[in-house]
Amino acid sequence: MLNWNRSSVLVRRTVGYSAVAALVCTGVSVLFLFVVGSKDADAARGRVTGAWDRTVPLIRQGFLPPVLPAGQDIAIQVLDTRQQVVASTPQLTRKPPMATFHATNASVHAERVLCPPAGLKGCMTVFSYKVYQPDGPWLLYVAVPTVPWYGNTAALSFAIGMSLLTTAMTAAGTFHVVKRDMTAVDAIRTELAEITATHLHRRVPVAHNNQEEIKLLAGTVNDTLDRLEGAYKQLRQFTSDASHDLRSPLTAMRAQLEEALMHPHDTDWPKTTAAVLAGVDRLQAIVTDLLTLARLDARAPLDLSATDLGRLVGGELDRRTYRMEIVRDFQRNVFVDCDRLRITRLLVNLLDNAERHATSQITVSVRADGPTATLEVLDDGAGIAPEHRERVFDRFTRLDASRDRDSGGTGLGLAIAREIAEAHQGTLTIQDSERGARFVLRLPVREAPQITGRSEQRAGHTGLFSSPVPR
Ligand SMILES: Nc1ncnc2c1ncn2[C@@H]1O[C@H](COP(=O)(O)OP(=O)(O)OP(=O)(O)O)[C@@H](O)[C@H]1O
Ligand SMILES: [Mg+2]
Repeated sequence: MLNWNRSSVLVRRTVGYSAVAALVCTGVSVLFLFVVGSKDADAARGRVTGAWDRTVPLIRQGFLPPVLPAGQDIAIQVLDTRQQVVASTPQLTRKPPMATFHATNASVHAERVLCPPAGLKGCMTVFSYKVYQPDGPWLLYVAVPTVPWYGNTAALSFAIGMSLLTTAMTAAGTFHVVKRDMTAVDAIRTELAEITATHLHRRVPVAHNNQEEIKLLAGTVNDTLDRLEGAYKQLRQFTSDASHDLRSPLTAMRAQLEEALMHPHDTDWPKTTAAVLAGVDRLQAIVTDLLTLARLDARAPLDLSATDLGRLVGGELDRRTYRMEIVRDFQRNVFVDCDRLRITRLLVNLLDNAERHATSQITVSVRADGPTATLEVLDDGAGIAPEHRERVFDRFTRLDASRDRDSGGTGLGLAIAREIAEAHQGTLTIQDSERGARFVLRLPVREAPQITGRSEQRAGHTGLFSSPVPR
């Protein structure tokens, strides 16, 4: 089926292009032959006029020889008033008059095509002239071969030959190019058909000749495969990390329960239950984070509303108690369009981290830099080395220092925070700082909304600028 389609495309393209070439060649050839034909006709008339010029003076002066000099493809006869042949070119010696027609009274010249004229061969155009002599009008017949519309057979053969050659070359060229392109596309298709989830490292062949479009196609397919492979690797890594992180608390809980069941009378059941509950909490935290990430990955719609960023952050800071000093540096009236629950979640993740890593102080600032609103969370802890500043945003990444310090984190907090920032068309990065880690969230700023007195009151009542933290 595929081969049939392939051949049919090949044949259709070749026939199509050849037909167009044949049509163009026919048009050009007809024009060319018309030009040649009119040139040849002009040349024949020129020869006739020359014969007239040479013969008429001889008639008028009375020096007309009985045998006139032979010319190329031309026959001449001179008839006196009694219609007797008095002179002719050698091929008509002792032959009767080649024609009987003559010019009407009003004209001195007439012309006819005779096939053949008397005493001659083939179709010829015969010109008849009246030459007035003292004894009456003599007749001068001049015959030249009739010129067809295409001029001559040499021109016709040339035109036909060139047309056939051009059409044949177009057919061969089209066949070659289409076949070459189809072979390259076939190679890409075959390779693509063989690439499955287990062979994602394979790439389609890139043609090394002049097929720019095919090269572009192969390049684009390979770029897509690169991205697909990257995404697939990330997904595999994520799945394996997720299973590992889910398995660890499960294994610990199972061991605790088996141990308790083996020695039910020696077991401190409240203690065991508390330990198992801690494991359940951790499992719950991981599953909740994974669900949040899945929703962010699926680009679930955001509940956007105009928000005073400073008030939102301030409200969240007021809601919590910290074991260290919190420095606030808020510019007034920095408005953004955001999903308050999600931005609060992002802030909580940054604050949790900062609290876990700070020595004594966390600085939170909000300001507007032109079209960008900036929220910074800076702590005075050990900071994050430049080479890890991108890696910590990967899912399940926890730096060694954190693993030693506290085993509670899942390594998903920053991944979620960055997804939230990107869902808001913003960025979340780690910037240089004199001391500690400096997380910077940038969001597009918006104009302050026009709020009437009553709606402002209502907003205050419903806690517009502070929201509960989803976890
Ligand atoms: N303020 C900070 N100072 C130093 N290291 C940090 C800071 N914030 C994050 N990190 C490093 O980045 C890693 C990833 O942080 P992330 O918030 O994603 O995970 P986590 O805090 O370990 O777990 P959780 O999912 O509970 O947030 C942390 O484990 C820690 O090593
Ligand atoms: Mg965290």
